[in-house]
Amino acid sequence: MGFGRCALEALAVTVEALGAGTWRGRRVLVTGHTGFKGAWLCLWLARLGARVTGFSLKPESRPNLFELAAVDSRVRSLIGDLREADAVGAALREAAPEVVFHLAAQSLVRRSYGEPVQTFATNVMGTVNLLEAVRHVPAVRAVVVVTSDKCYENRGLDRGYVEDDPLGGHDPYSASKGCAEIVVASYRRSFLDGATHAAVASARAGNVIGGGDWSQDRLLPDLIRAFESGRPALIRNPTAIRPWQHVLEPLAGYLQLAGALLSDDRAYARGWNFGPDTGSNATVGTVADLAAASWSGAAGWLTDGSSHPHEAGILMLDASAARRSLCWTPRLSLGRAVADTVGWHRELVAGASAADLCLRQIDAYAEMQSTAELQGAA
Ligand SMILES: NC(=O)c1ccc[n+]([C@@H]2O[C@H](COP(=O)([O-])OP(=O)(O)OC[C@H]3O[C@@H](n4cnc5c(N)ncnc54)[C@H](O)[C@@H]3O)[C@@H](O)[C@H]2O)c1
Repeated sequence: MGFGRCALEALAVTVEALGAGTWRGRRVLVTGHTGFKGAWLCLWLARLGARVTGFSLKPESRPNLFELAAVDSRVRSLIGDLREADAVGAALREAAPEVVFHLAAQSLVRRSYGEPVQTFATNVMGTVNLLEAVRHVPAVRAVVVVTSDKCYENRGLDRGYVEDDPLGGHDPYSASKGCAEIVVASYRRSFLDGATHAAVASARAGNVIGGGDWSQDRLLPDLIRAFESGRPALIRNPTAIRPWQHVLEPLAGYLQLAGALLSDDRAYARGWNFGPDTGSNATVGTVADLAAASWSGAAGWLTDGSSHPHEAGILMLDASAARRSLCWTPRLSLGRAVADTVGWHRELVAGASAADLCLRQIDAYAEMQSTAELQGAA
């Protein structure tokens, strides 16, 4: 897995953004800090010395990474609802951040079938409320809005979607993320030009796995719950293909993208895919097999034959633009990503601290990054 070719001028700006130089003392707002990816991002930013404020609802799953890793001992935690414009405005004013990472969302496809109104309200109007608040806080220079690989109209293509493929979405979650992309583009064209106001970009990542995710109806959490209880996991769509990646991969992309936006080059204010290498586009069944093998105890899975709401059969992302122009590249193979996820949970059960487990993986990832940077510059 090499660093690949990327523009030299980008190398300086964006790879730097994985180091403390970009973040030490910088004021950052992370929405969704009580969620899976947000908690990891807060730990990483705090490790880099950023002054982080988080804004989101209370953590939902039991257990959850936010509480286990005591994220609120490292960042300032504001509990509030994105659907309330006043609360979002107050949080932005209080945090006065230079950089905003917007991760808060109703993030589950299956839940979106049961709660479509709530899903659109949070994911679409929540994004409007956030960007509206950003307009009125001059301190903000860069905004990264996290949408999803599911924001594209899924046409069953056997190639990765590129950034200017049509947006769409079958289920309410996917459609809400397509809508959020349109909201971002409209705010960029109308208000957030990157000169007088903040620059805003969107980030579309794949199916993220990693330690500390206990969400319902996600593959790795479902597998680990079943393995821990000694029963076979029930898998809905074992032949469905998804772009799997370890949580640190898209988070590195978000950090690099924010660094690029801070360089005041408006070309970075656009949508970006952060998908894995082709080898990590694998079926649900393949990932379940890898997880069962990593568990190293009795672990297995069965196909759940009952009927389920529609989910796309194939979804892949083309991340060549991020590789070329942001010098972002995936570093962890699928096998390593699954092993790190399963290993994280096994070590937690064995008594390790959740924060230490995350920080150890963050440090190892950053170390791989600097090695890759040297290769890329050679
Ligand atoms: N996990 C994945 O595989 C994946 C893949 C692609 C995109 N994403 C996107 O990445 C982001 C983070 O995902 P995650 O896996 O951490 O999700 P998560 O469900 O673990 O966390 C969601 C966060 O959003 C917050 N939130 C939800 N509704 C809110 C509201 N009304 N007001 C304020 N906060 C609210 C929650 O409190 C939580 O902090 C989401 O935007 C998600 O759509 C995730």
